[in-house]
Amino acid sequence: MIVALLLLMIVVGSLLFHILSPWQFGEIASNWQMIDVTVYITFWICGIVFVLLGLFMAWAIWKYEYREDQKAEYEPENALLESRLSIITTIGVVVMLAPGLIVWQDYIQVPPDATEVEVYGQQWQWSFRLPGEDGIFGAAHNKYITFDNPMGMKPGDPYGEDDILIRTSSIQLPINRKVKILLRSKDVLHDFWVPEIRAKMDAVPGMITYFWFEPTKLGEYEILCAELCGRGHHTMRGTMDIVSLADYSTWLESQLTWAEIKAGVKPLSPEVIRGRQVAESNGCFACHTLDGSETVGPTWQGLWGRSVTLDDGSSQLVDEAYVRESITDPNAKLRDGFSPVMIPYELPEEDMAGLILFLKEISETEN
Ligand code: CUA
Repeated sequence: MIVALLLLMIVVGSLLFHILSPWQFGEIASNWQMIDVTVYITFWICGIVFVLLGLFMAWAIWKYEYREDQKAEYEPENALLESRLSIITTIGVVVMLAPGLIVWQDYIQVPPDATEVEVYGQQWQWSFRLPGEDGIFGAAHNKYITFDNPMGMKPGDPYGEDDILIRTSSIQLPINRKVKILLRSKDVLHDFWVPEIRAKMDAVPGMITYFWFEPTKLGEYEILCAELCGRGHHTMRGTMDIVSLADYSTWLESQLTWAEIKAGVKPLSPEVIRGRQVAESNGCFACHTLDGSETVGPTWQGLWGRSVTLDDGSSQLVDEAYVRESITDPNAKLRDGFSPVMIPYELPEEDMAGLILFLKEISETEN
């Protein structure tokens, strides 16, 4: 009787735990609704069978409790019962497995318009690689790894020069663009998992595994490692930012190619990149150059922090106040030797700040 009650409590407790638990699926952020469907099919079949079996066992224990006047019958074979059980079990297993096989087929059947992203797993961090402008990954292998070549880029491979290497655990991806994820591992088994994308895959040393997805919801999602890969396994996290195409372009511009990394180029901050875009979209480069040549307006090369001569013969330090004034009121302090042809620009503060950072940056690097 007590055992029957305990079984009943396990069944009821499990149901309550599921209903009241805070650990539910997060909102899906990719095209893989079918993966949710397969999970729910398995969940419902297993759940119903679990409840029925639990209740049946409790009932059987209560009903057939030992009584002196009641004698058990010995019946080792029951063909009818066994065939029914086999058929029902088979149907249940097929219903659980078949949708999964169909989704799996889709999951590894990468559409031709998917862009490629390599995810590199190592104890205990993620890093990423994009194929660059040529759209082709350079060859890479763990045997090429050195201190200065942590992702094992093949030396001398021309396809690798424009590859973009992202040595942080966060990556951005544009919304509504199909992505093929290629996985490599440096050391042991890892498993790339973004729960909201509903997708995960092992990264296996010595081989490249892959799957694809299409992000459908803006947001920042956590990347986890879903394979116990050593002492630091729990710290192997990253972020995947799903952003607009415009934000993605800005971010992409701030990343360095393998050739730039080898040449020791410093990464530009997103704010500086924004500044350059502000200059481009406002047509500044029609009159200002970055290479020292002077056309309509003064060059921006090495401009910041310099002392320049104005048309009244006085000298002026190029600092933030002067640059701001020269943008909003270009003719207030005109440089000697230039005509007053520039029109005033009203820039939002964010654009103005970015443009100033960009001016500073290019003066430092190209001086
Ligand atoms: Cu990598 Cu766990």
